[in-house]
Amino acid sequence: MQVLVIGSGGREHALAWKAAQSASVEKVYCVPGNPGIAQIAECVPMDIADNDALVAFALENKIDLTIVGPEVPLANGVVDAFRAKGLAIFGPTQAAAQIEGSKSFAKDLMKKYGIPTAAFEVFTDAEAAKAYIVEQGAPIVIKADGLAAGKGVVVAMTLDEALEAVDMMMCDQAFGSAGCQVVVEEFLTGEEASILTFCDGTTIVPMISSQDHKRAYDNDEGPNTGGMGTYAPAPVVTADVLARVQKEILEPTVAAMKAEGIPYTGCLYAGLMITENGPKVIEFNARFGDPETQVVLPLLDSDMAEVMMACVNGNLADLDIKWKDGAAVCVVMAAGGYPQSYRKGDVISGLDKAAELGATVFHAGTAAKDGNIVTNGGRVLGVTAIGTDVQKAVDNAYAAVKSIHFDDVHYRSDIAYRAIARLK
Ligand code: AMP
Ligand code: GLY
Repeated sequence: MQVLVIGSGGREHALAWKAAQSASVEKVYCVPGNPGIAQIAECVPMDIADNDALVAFALENKIDLTIVGPEVPLANGVVDAFRAKGLAIFGPTQAAAQIEGSKSFAKDLMKKYGIPTAAFEVFTDAEAAKAYIVEQGAPIVIKADGLAAGKGVVVAMTLDEALEAVDMMMCDQAFGSAGCQVVVEEFLTGEEASILTFCDGTTIVPMISSQDHKRAYDNDEGPNTGGMGTYAPAPVVTADVLARVQKEILEPTVAAMKAEGIPYTGCLYAGLMITENGPKVIEFNARFGDPETQVVLPLLDSDMAEVMMACVNGNLADLDIKWKDGAAVCVVMAAGGYPQSYRKGDVISGLDKAAELGATVFHAGTAAKDGNIVTNGGRVLGVTAIGTDVQKAVDNAYAAVKSIHFDDVHYRSDIAYRAIARLK
C-alpha cells in the first residue's frame, strides 16, 4: 500500500511512523509533514484545506489509503471529496465530524439516545444563559459551541467567573461565531480518561485507554494546553469501566449516528470523566488525540493500515486487534511561555542521544534551518518511551528528555503520576 497522512504535528508523526511499520505499506507520504516525519516519509508541501489539490495528489501518486490527522480538513469535507473519487480515506465525513465541530450537535445526540454525559442547556441569548447559571449555581461549565482551537471551555468555580465567561463568549465574541451559541453544563467530578476507537460505521472497537495532562504545570496547575503529556493504558479504565464504556457509550453512539443517517467512520475519540456513577462523556472528537496517539500507537500490535482499511471497507468486525503488554509514556517538551506567547528558532540538540536511549521522539513544532532542527511551535517534541510497567516507561521517557536541549525548554516532570500512585 501507498499511504498518505494529512497534517504536520506530533500526532501525524506517530501516524506516519506506525504506518511505515505496517508490513502492508511500501511508502508513506505526508502533507505537509515536518522534519521528524521527513525521516520516515516523503513530505509534500501543500495546503491541507485544498481538497481538490489533495485528491489530485492521491490520484496521481496512486495512494491506497489516506489518514487524516487534524479536525480542520475533516470539517472541510476532505473525506467526502476523496470518497467522491473512489479513494480510500480513514476519517469521518463532514456531516459526521460535527460530533466534534458542534458541541450542541453532540450534546443533543447524547440526550436523544440516552448516552451518559453532563446535564446541559444550549443558549443563543446571553441573558437567558446567565439566568440559568444563577439558578444552577457554581461550579458550572460554559462551552462555546463551535471549534475554538480547544480553548472554548471555561470550568467556572464561582458564579462570577461563569457570568464573565458568558460575556466573553457571547457579548465580546472572543471566539468569533463559535461563541454565538453556548452550552452550559453540569460540573462533573472524577478522573478523566481518553478512549480512541476504530470505527467502520457499524462496529466500534476501543483502542488501549490513555490519559492526557492538559494543564501547563506540575500538579495540574496553570493554564489549559493542547496536552503536556500522556500515558497508556490508564488504570482508571478498569476492565469493568471499559465494558461499561463500550455498552453505554461507544455502541450507542455509533448506532445513533447510523440511525441519524450519518454513519461514523474513522477514529472516534471519547473524552470521558469516570465518575462515581460510571463513565460520562465530556466531549467527542472526530480525530485521533494529540498527544494520546503518541502513546496508543506504540502499543498497537496489529497492522494499523490493515485495521484502517477494514474501517474504510466496513469489515472491522472480522478483525481481532491486538495490543502489546506494558505501558507507554509521552512527555511533551514545549517552548517556554507556551500556551501563551513563546519563542521560535532555538536550536534543538541531543535528538540522536534520545534515540540511542530507545525513545521515539515525535516532532510536533520543529523546522529545519541551516542544517539544524529548530523550535517552531508551542509544543515542540513528544518524547515517547515504552516499558514493562508505567514506572519503567516514565523512567525511560525522562532519561531521553534529559538528553535533549533547547533554550527556554519547558516540560512537566510528573507525567503519569496518577497511574504511578495507583501502582503503589
Ligand atoms: P473540552 O475542551 O471539552 O475537552 O474541555 C476541556 C477540559 O475542561 C476537559 O478536559 C475537562 O478537564 C474540563 N471539563 C469539560 N467539561 C467538564 C465538565 N462538565 N465537568 C468538569 N470538567 C469539565
Ligand atoms: N489531547 C487532547 C486532544 O487531542 O483533544
